[in-house]
Amino acid sequence: MIRTQVLGLGSYVPERVVKNEEIPFLDDKHVRGDVVRTETDDAWIYKRTGIRERRYVPNDGNTATSDLALEASKRALADAGVDAGEIDCIILGTLSPDFHFPGTAVLVQKKLGIAEKTNCACFDIRQQCSAFVYGLQMADAFVRTGMYKRILLIGAELHSHSLDFSTRGRDVMVLFGDGAGAMVLGPSESDDPRSGVMYTAAHADGTGALDLYLKIFEINKLPYIDYNPTDRETNQLMYPHMDGKRVFLHAVRGMVMASQAALAKTGLSWDDITWFVPHQANLRINEKVVEVAKIPPEKVLNTIEWYGNTTAATVPLTIDYWRQQGKVKRGDRILAAVFGSGFTWGASIFTL
Ligand code: ACO
Repeated sequence: MIRTQVLGLGSYVPERVVKNEEIPFLDDKHVRGDVVRTETDDAWIYKRTGIRERRYVPNDGNTATSDLALEASKRALADAGVDAGEIDCIILGTLSPDFHFPGTAVLVQKKLGIAEKTNCACFDIRQQCSAFVYGLQMADAFVRTGMYKRILLIGAELHSHSLDFSTRGRDVMVLFGDGAGAMVLGPSESDDPRSGVMYTAAHADGTGALDLYLKIFEINKLPYIDYNPTDRETNQLMYPHMDGKRVFLHAVRGMVMASQAALAKTGLSWDDITWFVPHQANLRINEKVVEVAKIPPEKVLNTIEWYGNTTAATVPLTIDYWRQQGKVKRGDRILAAVFGSGFTWGASIFTL
């Protein structure tokens, strides 16, 4: 029977480390000044979110989401021992695409130097923090049916350009960082139902759509962008908005339910899982999930302290981070649970 295997994994974060202490002094271009623009501090951010620092791309205007995706992809391809030319499908999850259209996957295809390939399909998916599990479900289905043989699954985000660096935007702005993660997936013959990608589930509840959103424009309006981007009185559509308490509650519920269903449907227990990798939105959310779902705390992997929330990238980034630390190894079985804007959520069990 054809099963989907993880052939390689890679991640990339930009070099600039932005510590909580810097945040109050950053202007819209991330330049540190002398005056406080945002009323916040390390104690508040760390206590409420578990975040100490995050990464930002250089503010020279030369880095896009596709560049972060490219670096992570190159590392995943090298890890898999797969040449870029062998990739016949790219699935890219992001909420911070380079442009409104075309999608970012085709830009990564071009940057990988495989754009002349006419047999490489490119998908962009828009499931925000849940994109990696949604993408994994798509990739698994494609591989099992024989549709594609070498899939590059990417989660990449450039958040730092679309955050509101002011007290008005502080509840959301302090949470997010830039980064990317990628996985190469392909088929192998196996009768072992526990091998490779064992389980994926994806869920959504559109009644939560406006509990966490970034509109930028409203296509029903004429003109569809009706504000001056530099006028702080009218430019709120440029920035993300969130009902933090509702997101917190739904995130805990979604990730607990998805994790428990993953075990129930596969007949596994936490003894069979090497690592639990929750989406990295807020350490307090993850602590609550671990408590409610009775997950052994020593099996939980987090990176939010150093990277903040990198949305579609958090799952591969976290696995790769801990692999580089020597904790995660090939053959480990991972249960990943995600929750994001939409609302969307899901879980997957796979062997690295
Ligand atoms: N620094 C200092 N004070 C702040 C900040 C900040 N960065 N942000 C908000 N505050 C203030 C508020 O203005 C408020 O002040 P007030 O009492 O004078 O009105 C006070 O802190 C409390 O605000 P709350 O919104 O009630 O704070 P809460 O305890 O809910 O924490 C938080 C806010 C951390 C955003 C929380 O709601 C949360 O984590 N929600 C989950 C959201 C999340 O993780 N989103 C990530 C994206 S979604 C995803 O990836 C799943």
